[in-house]
Amino acid sequence: MEPFPPTTIETSRLLLRPMVTRDLAGLLGIFADPKVMASFSEEPFTPEQMRRWLDRNLRHQEEFGYGLFSVIRKTDGLLIGDCGLEQMTVEGRRVAELGYDFRSDVWNQGYATEAARAVRDYAFDVLELSELISLVRQANLASARVAEKVGMRRAAELERYGARYWQYQLTKEELQASSR
Ligand SMILES: CC(C)(COP(=O)(O)OP(=O)(O)OC[C@H]1O[C@@H](n2cnc3c(N)ncnc32)[C@H](O)[C@@H]1OP(=O)(O)O)[C@@H](O)C(=O)NCCC(=O)NCCS
Repeated sequence: MEPFPPTTIETSRLLLRPMVTRDLAGLLGIFADPKVMASFSEEPFTPEQMRRWLDRNLRHQEEFGYGLFSVIRKTDGLLIGDCGLEQMTVEGRRVAELGYDFRSDVWNQGYATEAARAVRDYAFDVLELSELISLVRQANLASARVAEKVGMRRAAELERYGARYWQYQLTKEELQASSR
């Protein structure tokens, strides 16, 4: 299958655009912050770790035509988060994971939910995926709440690379049924 052409998604307050190499500094504003990294039980990223993370996402974007978008706040052009999709294998099944990470100084203003809902609709309506999952580390209640606000339900618990996760999921059919 040909990769999808790069897309920009617009919501009322945000632009979700394909990630680019020059986003490194903006992404460090998220991933070099101890408050953000505490959610992953990890130390803040060094610029080198950030570059490897970014390179991995750029390769994913190139392969599939989508990945994690850079989330730009329209009022000031600041890169405030990442939100998007990652293809992965979970317990032997190939799935698309909806993920999101935001700068700690913008938390609790509904940005992650706004971005994630837009990515959900893009995944179902444009990419025509039939199902999405989100892997949320147990105890990450803010992330779990975002998954719920996107319409996902907690479907399973699993261990991955030594950490316990809640698996949230949503099918296109479930979303259509809930909005009828
Ligand atoms: C998870 C994250 C992306 C949420 O971003 P955000 O922009 O603050 O999300 P929103 O404002 O859209 O929604 C947050 C919700 O969580 C709730 N919340 C926040 N902290 C909470 C906590 N400690 N316990 C329970 N709920 C909490 C908020 O009240 C809000 O729900 P509400 O609208 O019902 O009040 C952000 O906290 C983050 O980047 N965390 C670090 C990285 C991370 O955990 N990424 C997800 C990996 S799975």
